[in-house]
Amino acid sequence: MKLFQPDFLLHGADYNYEQWLDYPEILEEDFRLMRQAQCNVMSIGIFGWAMLEPEEGDFQFDWLDQLMDRLDENGLKAILATPSGAKPVWLAHTYPEIRLVDRNGQRQPQWMRHNHCPTSPIYREKVALINSLLAQRYQHHPALLMWHVSNEYGAHGCHCDLCYAAFRQWLQERYGTLDALNHAWWTTFWSHRYSDWTQIEAVDPSIHALMLDWMRFVNDQVLDFYRAECVPLRELTPETPITTNFMRPNTDLDYWQFAPYVDVVAWDSYPAWHSETDDVAVGVMTGFYQDLHRSYKQRPFLLMESTPSVTNWQGISRPKRPNVHLLSSLQAVAHGSNSVQYFQWRQSRGGQEKFHGAVVSHAGHGRTRVFQDVTDVGQHLAQLADLIPSCNTAEVALIYDLQNEWALELAQLPRSKDKLYQERCIAHYRPFWQMGITVDVIDSVAADFSPYKLLIVPMLYMLREGVAAKMEAFVRQGGTLVVTYLSALVNDSDLAFVGDNPLQSLLGLGVEETDVLFDHNTQAMRPLPDNELGLDGRYPVHHYADIIHLDTARPLAEYENDFYAGQPALAVNEYGDGRAIYLAARPDQRFLTDFYQALSGRLALSRALPTPLPEGVTAQVRRHELSQYLFLMNFQATPQTIDLGQANYQDMLSDQGLTGSLTIPGYGLRILRPQ
Ligand code: GAL
Repeated sequence: MKLFQPDFLLHGADYNYEQWLDYPEILEEDFRLMRQAQCNVMSIGIFGWAMLEPEEGDFQFDWLDQLMDRLDENGLKAILATPSGAKPVWLAHTYPEIRLVDRNGQRQPQWMRHNHCPTSPIYREKVALINSLLAQRYQHHPALLMWHVSNEYGAHGCHCDLCYAAFRQWLQERYGTLDALNHAWWTTFWSHRYSDWTQIEAVDPSIHALMLDWMRFVNDQVLDFYRAECVPLRELTPETPITTNFMRPNTDLDYWQFAPYVDVVAWDSYPAWHSETDDVAVGVMTGFYQDLHRSYKQRPFLLMESTPSVTNWQGISRPKRPNVHLLSSLQAVAHGSNSVQYFQWRQSRGGQEKFHGAVVSHAGHGRTRVFQDVTDVGQHLAQLADLIPSCNTAEVALIYDLQNEWALELAQLPRSKDKLYQERCIAHYRPFWQMGITVDVIDSVAADFSPYKLLIVPMLYMLREGVAAKMEAFVRQGGTLVVTYLSALVNDSDLAFVGDNPLQSLLGLGVEETDVLFDHNTQAMRPLPDNELGLDGRYPVHHYADIIHLDTARPLAEYENDFYAGQPALAVNEYGDGRAIYLAARPDQRFLTDFYQALSGRLALSRALPTPLPEGVTAQVRRHELSQYLFLMNFQATPQTIDLGQANYQDMLSDQGLTGSLTIPGYGLRILRPQ
C-alpha cells in the first residue's frame, strides 16, 4: 500500500469526455476552460464502459488514449476510474445473473447504475478483464495519478441464489453450527428456529440479528468485490495509489472496514446550503462528516465530489450565495482535505443529470458566476500548497459507530420514533466546532482510544466485543468518558445483556427503567447546587429519560418532574485515574454547550483560539511540525468580528500581518498562520 500525498492541492471534476465525442469543438474548449479554472486533475472514465467495450470483447480505447494524452498536454492529471459502477446494456442482457434480485425474488431490469450483483462470478470476471486492460494500457502514461475504483459502492443487497449461497457460507464460518446460530439469533422467539442452512433467507425483520448479519455480509461482499477490482491494479501499477469514493454515511457500508484497503480516503459531499436547515447547522454537520472522513485513516483525505452550484436530487437545491462556494470548498481543506473536486465538469445534454450543476453549464463558456467561483477556488488552492503535509490533531474523540447505527435502526424500542443517532452525534459535536476544538469521529471497535483526553459516546446501543474493556482502560489511565442514555443494551448479535451491565462498574450505576416522552410531556434536569461543573438552572430533556440507581457514582443533576423527580439525571464516577460521566436523558443543545464548555475548561483542551468565537463561526487548525494553519470560517450570512487574543498572525493569502481583532464578511473565511 502506497499512502497518497500529492505534490499539489487537487482541483478538478468528474469529466464525462465520452459523452461529447461528436462535438470536437466542445472538447477543445474544455481543455482551455480547465486551464482557465486552474484545474489540475480530472476524474475520468467513471461511466465509460459502454464506450470502452461497445460489444462483448470489442475494446475501443482510442478515445481514452486521446483523453489521457490531452490531459497530459494540458498539464492535468487523471484520476482514472474502473467502470464497474454502471454496467453496459449488452452485458446485463447477455448475462442476466449480474442484475440485482430484490427481496421479493424479482430480478431488476437493466436500468439506472450501481446495481450489479456483488457475487456474480461473471461480473467479477468481466470487471477484472477491463480493469487489467486499463492498467496494462495506461500503467506508464504520464497523466495517470490515481485509481478511482468504481463509483460510490453501496450495500444494495442482492437476494439471488448466488448471494444466498455466499451468505450461508459466511454464516457457517461465523457460527460453525446451526445451534450456535439459533442461539445468537434467539430464533426460538416466534418459532423461527432453523434446522437447515438452506432455510435462511434475509427477509425477516422480526429477527434483528439475522438482518444485522445480512447487512454485515453485504458489506463484506462489497468490500470483497472492491478488493477483487484492485488485484490487477495493484499487480500492474504497484506505485499508483488506489481509492474509491465514500459517501456521507447512509450507504449501509461500514467504511471503517474499507479504510485499511484504500491508499487515501475520498468522499463525496453534498450539503444542502440555504435549505430549511439553517446554514450554521449545515456547516456543523458538514464539519462532522469532514472530520469523520479524516478520522478513517487519521490522515488527510480527498473531497472527490461536491457540486459547484446545485444538485438536482435534493428536492430543492438553491444556488450558493456569494462567498459560499469558496467557504464550503475550503471547509473541506480546513478539516484535512487535500483536494476540492466537483461533480461535474460539464453539464450533460441528456439523461437524469442534465440539470445538475457543473463547472461549465449548457451555455458552454467561462463567463458565469459559477465558473468564476470555481476559478477563485483554484487560485486559492494554488497558493496553499504548503498545507499538504499538515493534518488536524484531536484531544477529543466522538464514537460514531456505523454498525451500531444499523442495529439501532432495526431495534424496536418503547420509543422508536426519533431515535436520531446521527443527529445526536452531531449535536454532541457542535459545541466543539463552536469552540474551535478539533474532534476525531471514531469507531468503537477499530479505534485506539488512548490518544484522547475526552471520549464521547452517544447512544452506543450495541456494545461490541472488547469495547467495554477498552473504555475501562481509557478511563483507568486518566481519560474522561461521557456515555449517554440508550447505551450498552445489546451485544454484537443484538442479544440483550443479562445480569450486570458490562458498563456498570465503570459508570458506577445501573439503569432500571427508561421513561420515554411524547413531545407534549415535560421533563427537565436541574444541576445540583455546587456541582463540580458549575452548571446551573434548568435544562429541558426530551424523548428518553433513564431512571437510574447509583452504586459508586455521584449525582451532578437530578430530574425535575414526575414519579422520579429528585433522582439523578447526570452522574460522575471516579474510576482509576479518570472519570466516567453518564448522561441519562436527551438534553437540548443549550445543555450540551454548557456541559462541554465546562468539561473542556476542566480538561484544559486546546482551542484554535483562546477567545470565544461568535456564534456560527468556527476555527479549525491543520498542523505540521512547526507550522500551523488556522482556518476561520463564518457560516452566518452577516459579518462577524473575531477576537484574536494576544498573538500575531499572518494572512496566508495576502501576507498581511494581523493582531487584535478581525472582521469576516458573511460566509467569509480567512486562513492565518501564527507568527
Ligand atoms: C454522486 C455520484 C455522481 C453524481 C452525483 C450527483 O453521488 O457519484 O456520479 O451522480 O452524485 O450529485
